[in-house]
Amino acid sequence: MTQPDLSVRIGKLYLENPVLVASGTFGYGSEYGHFVDISLLGGIVTKTLTPEPWPGNPPPRAAETAAGMLNSIGLQNVGVEAFIREKMPYLRTLDTAIIVNVGGGPLEEFVYVTERLADCEGIDALEINMSCPNVSGGLDFSTDPRRAAQLIGTLRRVTSLPIIAKLTPNITDITEIATHVEEAGADAISAINTIRGMAIDISTRRPKLGAIMGGLSGPAIKPVAIAAVYQVAKRVRIPVIGIGGISSAEDALEFMIAGATAVQIGTANFVEPRTGATVVDGLAAWCTASDVPAIREVIGRMELPS
Ligand SMILES: Cc1cc2nc3c(=O)[nH]c(=O)nc-3n(C[C@H](O)[C@H](O)[C@H](O)COP(=O)(O)O)c2cc1C
Repeated sequence: MTQPDLSVRIGKLYLENPVLVASGTFGYGSEYGHFVDISLLGGIVTKTLTPEPWPGNPPPRAAETAAGMLNSIGLQNVGVEAFIREKMPYLRTLDTAIIVNVGGGPLEEFVYVTERLADCEGIDALEINMSCPNVSGGLDFSTDPRRAAQLIGTLRRVTSLPIIAKLTPNITDITEIATHVEEAGADAISAINTIRGMAIDISTRRPKLGAIMGGLSGPAIKPVAIAAVYQVAKRVRIPVIGIGGISSAEDALEFMIAGATAVQIGTANFVEPRTGATVVDGLAAWCTASDVPAIREVIGRMELPS
């Protein structure tokens, strides 16, 4: 059999393969360039950008948990101007899709960052972080369907780049937000961001995170993420990008069978920065062994129990 076709499309965004690295877990690419051949990835999603540089939350900002981690990094970033000036020249040299994650507090901050990036050469898509659980102000965009639609609708008028809305799982019905952002003009949906969590050191009785609560990620959240992807993919026509606890080709396939067109790898990058490339190789090997000529054939092809 010839090499399997791993390419997928996220709206008008073409990806050589469906494996991306998740925002906040791969810096701005350059931090990993020495360890990893980034061109092997389908794309890279950069750390959430805000208008101004931001120091993030007070330390400690990470704690290990059973099968995962808690973080309260917050939106620590260099700010959009420094990003364009200092980070984009390197990102432009990479032979992979560049997806820039946009955040903020009030709506105007999202608009400002999006406007600054709209004409910036070398950006293939924007991912809108509607869901960071660690900052105040941004939260209602991810939990109130009308505010979510207002945000995406406003950004839709500011840029012609593909818009990927990244949703929070910290809500009763994720599909309600998904249908509203689709209607407002989103080209794709990413699911999920971290799940709100907390841990306490019993010897000091202090919370393990300076911000008290944070976001849970890693293998512990994989089943929650797969359920979210399955539910959202059933409700919307736009592509869904699955995120949550992926560290192997088998994990990625589970998400794709549940309905994801592509996947992102987050926490696993901290354990092994080459995880993305290994997952790409594993997907190709699985396609060959399973007589599947193109990976897109598995998207949403779950068999229901009889
Ligand atoms: C340390 C850390 C920082 C993160 N920073 C961001 C961020 O800036 N913006 C964002 O949209 N998601 C951020 N995330 C969430 C990840 O992109 C991803 O949605 C989440 O971790 C679930 O995937 P995983 O289980 O593979 O890590 C961060 C996650 C971690 C662990």
